[in-house]
Amino acid sequence: MQIFQNISKLRETLLAFQQKSQKIGFVPTMGALHQGHLSLIKQAKAENDVVVCSIYVNPTQFNNPDDLAKYPRLLESDAEMLRSVGCDILFAPADTEMYPNPAKIKFDFGFLETTMEGKFRPGHFNGVALVVSKLFHIVMPHKAYFGQKDLQQYLVIKQLTNDLSFPIEIVRCQIVREENGLAMSSRNKRLSSEQIQIASNIYKALQMAEKMLKTHTSEQIQSQIEIFFSEIKEIELEYFEIADAYTLEGIADLQKHSQPKALCIAAFVGDVRLIDNLWVEN
Ligand code: PAJ
Repeated sequence: MQIFQNISKLRETLLAFQQKSQKIGFVPTMGALHQGHLSLIKQAKAENDVVVCSIYVNPTQFNNPDDLAKYPRLLESDAEMLRSVGCDILFAPADTEMYPNPAKIKFDFGFLETTMEGKFRPGHFNGVALVVSKLFHIVMPHKAYFGQKDLQQYLVIKQLTNDLSFPIEIVRCQIVREENGLAMSSRNKRLSSEQIQIASNIYKALQMAEKMLKTHTSEQIQSQIEIFFSEIKEIELEYFEIADAYTLEGIADLQKHSQPKALCIAAFVGDVRLIDNLWVEN
């Protein structure tokens, strides 16, 4: 695996692949890699000639400076994990390379950035869209891979790709879970083994809600989920939403809604904020 910190050196190397018409698959990450990230690399590997992974803890998407400072930086062990699944190129730039001058551009994703994660993390998606746009320009991949774990992020990137005409196919990848159902996340490292067991109730709640979709109203499901969490004192529910899976708008009549639905949860276990979702086709 080749490792680059420098944009122009990376571009030189990628140009050689592009000239040979080789397909480039791209997986942007912030490191502290786990099996969820590696599943994206494996999928990219299966569908392209060359796989590029970026590891960059992007300061513009953190609204809390403390979170940014505490974000785990594990470049050496991450590189080892990437090698083990056959990643070809790792791009790990410094802040001065990505932001030689402060960026001023602002995006507006309308409703998509005012609901759920957008509501609780103001400015977050602007930072994500900014860094992903830069990375797309740098890497110029054919396909880019995003986890459904961050469903709203995937939808923002789809909108960004459409609005700016990036000639890139955006691939939505399945959520990789622990054996007990908990969605894998870099933040799970901050949970005790007892908390990991408790946190698996988030997935249980999603499954319970899914079963109710065909027979209950949104309000009935909502109140059932609230009751479920009110009985688990170690989990504090931040939101539970039933929404259209493409727009994240609320659904007036579940039975009449013919588009896929998304069931989304954010909840705290101790001071660790976790998100999860289910994508339900009709
Ligand atoms: P990061 O949190 O490192 O996630 C990188 C990618 O891994 C994202 O597309 C995320 O959805 C995916 N991922 C995380 N956990 C997963 C799981 N359990 N199963 C499947 N995929 C999973 O998301 C970011 O970084 C950043 O916002 C980024 C897009 C890199 C921009 O800075």
